[in-house]
Order: sequence, then structure tokens, then C-alpha cells
Amino acid sequence: MTEWHKSDWRNKPRVQMPEYLDMDALAAAEAQLAQYPPLVFAGEARTLRDELAAVSRGEAFLLQGGDCAESFGEFGADLIRDTFKVMLQMAMVLTYGAKVPVVKVGRMAGQFAKPRSAPTEVKDGVELPSYRGDIINDLDFTPEARIPNPEKMLKAYTQAAATLNLLRAFSKGGFANIHQVHAWTLGFTEKDEAQKYRAMAERISDALDFMETAGLTSEKNHELSSVDFYTSHEALLLEYEEALTRVDSTSGKWLAGSGHMIWIGDRTRQPDGAHVEFCRGVQNPIGLKCGPTTTADDLKVLMNKLNPENEAGRLTLIARFGAGQVADHLPRLIKTVQQEGANVVWSCDPMHGNTIKSASGYKTRPFESVLREVQEFFAIHRAEGTIPGGVHFEMTGKDVTECTGGVRAVTDEDLGSRYHTACDPRLNASQALELAFLVAEELGTTASSRQAAAV
Ligand code: PEP
Ligand code: CO
Repeated sequence: MTEWHKSDWRNKPRVQMPEYLDMDALAAAEAQLAQYPPLVFAGEARTLRDELAAVSRGEAFLLQGGDCAESFGEFGADLIRDTFKVMLQMAMVLTYGAKVPVVKVGRMAGQFAKPRSAPTEVKDGVELPSYRGDIINDLDFTPEARIPNPEKMLKAYTQAAATLNLLRAFSKGGFANIHQVHAWTLGFTEKDEAQKYRAMAERISDALDFMETAGLTSEKNHELSSVDFYTSHEALLLEYEEALTRVDSTSGKWLAGSGHMIWIGDRTRQPDGAHVEFCRGVQNPIGLKCGPTTTADDLKVLMNKLNPENEAGRLTLIARFGAGQVADHLPRLIKTVQQEGANVVWSCDPMHGNTIKSASGYKTRPFESVLREVQEFFAIHRAEGTIPGGVHFEMTGKDVTECTGGVRAVTDEDLGSRYHTACDPRLNASQALELAFLVAEELGTTASSRQAAAV
């Protein structure tokens, strides 16, 4: 790699970042953050990279999910627990479907900054700067609330640290016990609307009973009562990212200490821009959103910049085209990857290409479109003989009404009842789990078609 320093991004064109007004306050916040310990250790990022390398070979599957935007107002142990819990349930169902381990990565403990489609927002004839996430400004529609405040980076750090602390406790402290996780899922399939998933849940019960009879109990086997859980977020606010970036003493390489994996959004992936410049220099696994406007030429340059050594597990391409559009774009990008001989993980984000405005005025995502995009993603990988490595969802463990559809049928009229997101509409716990069952079916089909191709 060419020489790199954590502040080089400052010499590159930047988009989607706030213009801070008080430069002294900004410098003070950056200096404070730079003194704080990093949130993750380099060895963990390397382990995640190795696990993602297994995903790129089809030996594991990636589940990435969590909030669109974490918020300071909606913060607490229950919220973290519920999202973690539904991620574990999804992972278990996916493990069963894919017959490979599931790598679990939360959009948590750092997912605070948001790119926006317009720099300003107009309400009742009043125009104000857009809300950019709680790490930058406030959602309230007043001129003061929308001024970017650098001190909010310190609060975001504190919230991320507390979140990660609880996630680590849940992961290793017994909460993640495999039998417990399955009992929750059985509870879900008992409900009338979800009974169609009962058969798969019962097959999982049989497998667990068999393991127990064979002596594989969680008391004796630590692996059955603990999990590895990683954190991720969009590396959008580069002042925050830079302040938490350190040289790892064991390898001498830079590490973004803000989370295990970071990604570059669809709006900030300019090959010569600040975000790509920052991400290329840190050793964390990097995600790159690929949308309908991603060109083959840009993708080539980006793969070379972000993964010059072509390391497996370093780069995850997160496809987000929209239902009905995957066939127009995924095959051409798969071809580019193949021509370059690039090692990548292919993941599917079926959320960001499927946002619509409902008749009732809410920003929503129809569950059917989310599901359809996932199915198109799998079908194309089956046709191309490439590996559908993972899925990327915006979801919450709470029973919100933000996306329409699903077995418990959230309707357009229901959206207003529990619409809590600070940004994009999320799948609720029941929709997220239902999607996991459907993806597990796809994975089962993919695995058998690969086996058939191999004989
Ligand atoms: C996101 O993941 O929250 C996001 C904004 O996605 P994208 O960059 O793909 O639009
Ligand atoms: Co979003």
C-alpha cells in the first residue's frame, strides 16, 4: 500500500459531512476522543477478517443487522438485548439452513451518522439543514437543533462503549445459550400466523435433542452457551473515525478503533474521495455498498484501492439495488469481480433500494419487496455459480410498525401506531425472524444445487 496516515482524508473532497461552525469546540472534542481507549482490539478485527474469508469461500454465512441509526433518546439495556436476541435467533435458523457457521455482525455500537438524500429539509414552508444522526445534530425541527455540535461525538462514544460492553456480557455470560435461543424461536412459531415455520423449528429441536443425548451439553461445552458477536457501522463522520484510529502494537498496522467492521455508503464511495481514502488505510474488514449507479470502472478502482493485496475477508460488497433491479446490475458487477480475480464477500442489503412513501405518508418498505430482492440475489448467484455470502438488514428487536407486510401483516394504516425510527424503516422482530426462515430455505436450495453440481 502507498504511504498512508489517518488524517490524509482531509486533503480529499468530502461529501455528506457536517460543516462545523465552532472550530475550537471541534478540536477539543477530537483531542478528547483521541485520549479515550479504542472500543475494539485489532486481534478481533483480524479474527473477523478470517471468518469473512471463510464466508467468501462459502464455508460460513454473514448476518449483519441492526438499527438504521442508533439514537441517544432510544437507548437502553432492553433495546440492546432485544436486537441481540433476534439476531441470535436469526443466526440459529440460518445456521440450520446453510449448514455452515453464521458470522454475526451488529449495526450497533457506532451506527450514528447518516448520509441524506438532500442537504436541507422543508416543513410547512420552513427550510432547515437535514438531520444527520445523533452524533452530528438533533432531529427536532428547529434551527438550533440542526446546528452540528462536535460534543455529540463524545456522547456517541460513551453510548457505543456502554452498548459494546453489554453485548460482550451477553455474548459470553450465558445469555446466548443455544437452548434458550431456540426456546424463544419456538415461542414465535407457536403463534397462529407463524405456524408455517414450525416444521423447521421442530427439526432444529430434534438436532439439539440429539446433540444433548450425545453428551454435547452447554454445561460441558462453552461454545453452546457463548457466541462471537461483532460490531459495525458506516464510517461517515471521519473526524470521529480518525480520532479513534490507532497503530496496533502487535502488527504495526492502523486500526479504526470505533468498531470491528466499517463500511462505505452508496453516497460516499467516490474513488478519489475522503471516505475511500480513510478506509483504505485501516486493517478492519471493509464493507462497500454497491447500488444501481456503481459502474464497473469504479468498482475496479475501488477494489484495487481498498484491497490491494486481494486478501480474502477484507472486502464485502453489499449489493442494494431494489427488488426487480438486481438482474440489471448484479450480473455485470459479478463479471467485473471475476475479471479482476478479486476475492470478495457478496452480501445483500434488501432495505435501501426498497424505500417508498406509503399512502399514509410514512416512509416504509414493503416486506414483499425486501424478500423479493433477497430471492433475486440468491437466484443470480445460483445462475452465475458464485457465492451468496450474506445478508444485511435494518431491524430492531422491538415490535415496531415501520415496514409493511409479514406474517403478522402490518398494514399501511398500522404504520402510525409504533413508528419509532429516527431514520429509515426497520423490520420488527417478527419480520426479521420470518425473513431468516425464508433465507434459510434459499440457503438450503443453494447448498443442494452446489452439491448436485459437484457430483
Ligand atoms: C445505510 O446502510 O444506512 C445506508 C444509508 O445505506 P446506503 O449507503 O446503501 O444507502
Ligand atoms: Co438506512
